[in-house]
Amino acid sequence: MSMGGNNNPLLTVSWDEGSGSVKLIDQTKLPENLEYIICNNHNQVADAIKNLSIRGAPAIGVAAAMGLALCAVNDNSANKKDLLSSLETAYKILLQTRPTAVNLKWGLDKVMEETGKHETVQGIKENLVKLVKEMSDDDIQTNKNMGRFGSNLIDNGDVIMTHCNAGALATVSYGTALGVIRSAKDSGKKISVFATETRPVMQGSRLTAFELVHDEIDVSLIPDTAVGHLMANNMIDKVIVGADRILKTGHVFNKIGTYQVALLANSHNIPFYVAAPLSTFDLEQDDPDKIVIEERSVEEVVKIGGKRIAPKGVRVFNPAFDLTPPNLITGIITEKGVLKPPFEKSISEAFGIDEQAGL
Ligand code: MRU
Repeated sequence: MSMGGNNNPLLTVSWDEGSGSVKLIDQTKLPENLEYIICNNHNQVADAIKNLSIRGAPAIGVAAAMGLALCAVNDNSANKKDLLSSLETAYKILLQTRPTAVNLKWGLDKVMEETGKHETVQGIKENLVKLVKEMSDDDIQTNKNMGRFGSNLIDNGDVIMTHCNAGALATVSYGTALGVIRSAKDSGKKISVFATETRPVMQGSRLTAFELVHDEIDVSLIPDTAVGHLMANNMIDKVIVGADRILKTGHVFNKIGTYQVALLANSHNIPFYVAAPLSTFDLEQDDPDKIVIEERSVEEVVKIGGKRIAPKGVRVFNPAFDLTPPNLITGIITEKGVLKPPFEKSISEAFGIDEQAGL
């Protein structure tokens, strides 16, 4: 079984043509069981995003778009105005599922934009289904392009550290950070990976380790607390992580713990790369303090694998993401190439924005 696009790759999220539903791998069941959730309406997609059955910024972007397309397909409105009103309600429900990953809004906005281009209810429904299937194909192609650019940064024999899961399971397939690793391996380089377990939800041990073991990529799992020790002992050549939101200043929001990894990499002179598609960039915001960092439930921290490990009554703070400032980042790998500091300039160029004119 390959998650990497070699033999019959698994799709994290797909539009099921026959039944007109959205099919998701239930990531809460991994690695023990590979089970799917079939969503027949947008509320089920919203629930799946909220409870992390589907997670990872690009995957939730495509899933949310498919959820909104489902709303359109299921809707019985006789005219565009009524259909739009149903879509606006579903848009709000889907948008508030998770606040930090900007791909969620990107995916939903693409659906609304497409809706605006068509006049008839039938035309909207058909074109939204076409759009979300294209978004799914584009995501895979984007990751492969990103992988090719990122692979040029990797040397034969490199030992790469990654945090959380920025792999096939965080995208439609192939992955961002893990896509770079897949691509480097496919180009004949010998690569090995250290994956942090990523408390509290264990995306590293449950998901990254799962997909790398499946693709026969050399992976060792470490406790989050071992990062500094490995770096101090020259065991890591490069770090590659994903992102949930990148501001035009190059500030990167990603899974909690990324900032610590970046700081440690910086103090040990280890290159720290972020791999993310252009859909993860938030060009509307340049103030990191304005970005909402999702806080998740107490349960995630007081329990491991469903078993309580902390005393009842303890106060818990559970931020799901943190901010890595641009001065700790060596480069941002995108489908358009590797962006280098100063990021304000390289990000503007990647988007074809004229900085002087502020366009
Ligand atoms: O809470 P999660 O599992 O959705 O967080 C995921 C991450 O932080 C990933 O690193 C990020 O979404 C990039 S995925 C390509």
